[in-house]
Amino acid sequence: MENDQLSSAELPFTRDQLVQKLKDALTDSRFHHVLRVEQTAMDLAKTNHVDVKRAGIAGLVHDYAKQRPDADFIQAIKHYHLDPELLNYGNAIWHGVVGWLFVKNELRISDIEILNAVRYHTVGHEYMTPLEQIVYMADYIEPGRDFPGVDEARQLTFDNLKLGVAYQTKQTLAYLVENNKPVFPQTIVTYNSWVPDSGLK
Ligand SMILES: [Fe+2]
Ligand SMILES: [Fe+2]
Repeated sequence: MENDQLSSAELPFTRDQLVQKLKDALTDSRFHHVLRVEQTAMDLAKTNHVDVKRAGIAGLVHDYAKQRPDADFIQAIKHYHLDPELLNYGNAIWHGVVGWLFVKNELRISDIEILNAVRYHTVGHEYMTPLEQIVYMADYIEPGRDFPGVDEARQLTFDNLKLGVAYQTKQTLAYLVENNKPVFPQTIVTYNSWVPDSGLK
């Protein structure tokens, strides 16, 4: 639901309180990354007519679980009876796919759109909503990012959010294959739904 205002029940902490919780949970460099993702997500929300507050909060909290010990994720996977296949992966996948539960429980965010944006920010999925696309892309193109092609990715994303999603999805899969890294099955599902026929050059 675009342009739908968040109610206070869905967000019991103020933005400043959340900022403090992120500061406590993350290293200084990652804390500054989440602030840049927050701002980039708000910028993308404006150009795509998505609720700016929701985008900002989702950007701010997307990496909340990034520095949790593996044991916390393993415990959550077992406690919540998540797919045991997840145990074959690690923090890079867990901090989104499992980490949204820590955002829900500890930051007490119940807004499902924000939670899903956190959940899918690393692997995406077939039918990402505009908000999910925004957080996925803000994480990739925030001003602190520096990799070959980042300027093209920024241009593409601000011109056409979906093409940005296709670009990142293709680059991520290519990187994993190139470096003999395991590919989380959901990443392939995301690739198949976002890259072919996307119009990406
Ligand atoms: Fe992340
Ligand atoms: Fe991130």
